[in-house]
Order: sequence, then structure tokens, then C-alpha cells
Amino acid sequence: MPTTEELQQFLDIATEAALTGGAVLQKYWKNLSSIQEKGRSGDLVTEADQASEVAVLTVIKRHFSDHAILAEESGQLGQLDSPLLWAIDPLDGTTNYAHGYPLCAVSIGLLVAGVPMVGVVYNPILGDLYQAAKGLGATHNRQPIQVSKTAQLSNSLLVTGFAYDRRETVDNNYAEFCHLTHLTQGVRRGGSASVDLAHVASGCLDGYWERGLSPWDLAAGVVLVEEAGGLVSAYDGSPFDIYSGRLVATNGPLHQPIVQELGHVQPFPQFEPK
Ligand code: IPD
Ligand code: CA
Ligand code: CA
Repeated sequence: MPTTEELQQFLDIATEAALTGGAVLQKYWKNLSSIQEKGRSGDLVTEADQASEVAVLTVIKRHFSDHAILAEESGQLGQLDSPLLWAIDPLDGTTNYAHGYPLCAVSIGLLVAGVPMVGVVYNPILGDLYQAAKGLGATHNRQPIQVSKTAQLSNSLLVTGFAYDRRETVDNNYAEFCHLTHLTQGVRRGGSASVDLAHVASGCLDGYWERGLSPWDLAAGVVLVEEAGGLVSAYDGSPFDIYSGRLVATNGPLHQPIVQELGHVQPFPQFEPK
């Protein structure tokens, strides 16, 4: 377990890296010359994703040359079971970004022995900086944040997302989305998993669930939610596994109710892959 001083140092460097990547995203904002599909329909990559990743990795490697890295665009450096593994999404919300819709972020998390312990989510377009480290609390623009106190699903506002494989699987989250829309004040689809988690941490949303995610989407946001007093688990309430790509993150009081409702949902057969 790192000391408080070490965690603070990791958080400071993660912040420096996120701000550096964010400056790159600002530079390319509404000024992209290259938008490509990565293979799967709708999964975009732009020159901003790539340049932001180079900028983030430069900062992380300069300070921690011996740490392992899992970054969306360049892949793995070192072993996934390394005691210190950075999970980096240089642009979370590429589809939003490519359309000029300002929900997007640089997401940088640090797994210590597989457990997310440091997280920074930075939206340079809206100027939102979220930071957290195990035992040190969570902040938004350097002010402490806490999850909401909403205790009834009928009073809640949730958020979810739909993975790029949604046309290839019946497990596409469409039925879950409708079911929980019916029971709550609304379910948003933000389009940036790390921003969704930051919004749960800061209390403007009460809960989030999604499947088909990658460690770099989740590592930072999970720390934010936990440090803001929330809960994170698998869909069935069992311990969260970052490599499962699936999680429920809530303010706490709504955790069991959401887990219970997710357990009831049957997929819509009309959206099975053809
Ligand atoms: C995506 C976003 C989106 C989520 C997708 C992710 P990307 O990340 O986080 O909200 O629904 O599953 O892949 O591709 O924009 O980095
Ligand atoms: Ca992402
Ligand atoms: Ca990304």
C-alpha cells in the first residue's frame, strides 16, 4: 500500500498529465482534419486522441519510467499484473468530441496491485477537473465533492451508455435503459464513461451502470465515486472487476435498488443481431 505522500505524488503527476492531454484536446477542438473508424462501426479515433495520448504518456513516463501502462491507443507497456499500472484514456467521449458535443475527458487512473487508487478526469472544454486518491477524498475544481443523498429510485436521475458492440449482441443495454427510464426521473446517455462517473461522484447524477467498457474508461472514475462516498460493484452487487467491463456505480442508498432492477431485465429480442 503506498503511503499518503506517495498517493499525493501519483495524484499530482496524474493531474499534470491530464492537464497536458487536455491542452491537446483544446487545440484540436472543432478543428479536426482526421476522423477514422477503428474497425468496429462507430468506434472513432481522431488525431486528437492520438496526440493527447502521446502528451499524457510523455508526462507519466518522465516521472515513473518503471510503472506499467495500459493506454487505449498505444496498448500495453509492461505487465497487467504489475504492482503499479496506469490505465489511460486520452480522450473518453470521442464521438461527442468529433461532433463538437462538449462531454469528453482525459481519464487517468492508477491501479495499485489491481485496485484503482488514484483517478483524474479532466474535461478541458468545460474546464472541469476531477481528482481523487484512496483516503484523500474527491474534488471538482479543487473543491471537495460528495455523492447525492437521493434514496428513492423515483426521485433519481441516472446515466448509462451503449458499447460499440451493441449491434452485435442481444446484451446491448436497451431493455435496461427502458426499464430504469420507467422507474426514475430520467436516464441520461452522456457518451463519456469517465464523465458519467465524475457526475455520480459530484452528486448531479445518482447512479450509473454500463457494460462493454475497458479499464481505461473506468479506473479513474471508480476512485472518484468511492472517494466521494459512493459504491461500485458488478451488476449483481458482487465485487467490481475492472476487467469485466461492467459496473454499477451509485450514491450508496440507490445501489441495491438498481442492482435489483438490473437483475429483472430481459433483453429485447427484436434487437438481436441479424
Ligand atoms: C466510450 C465512452 C462511452 C461509452 C463507450 C466507451 P471512447 O469511450 O466512454 O460513453 O459508452 O463504451 O467506449 O471510445 O469515447 O473513448
Ligand atoms: Ca473511453
Ligand atoms: Ca478514448
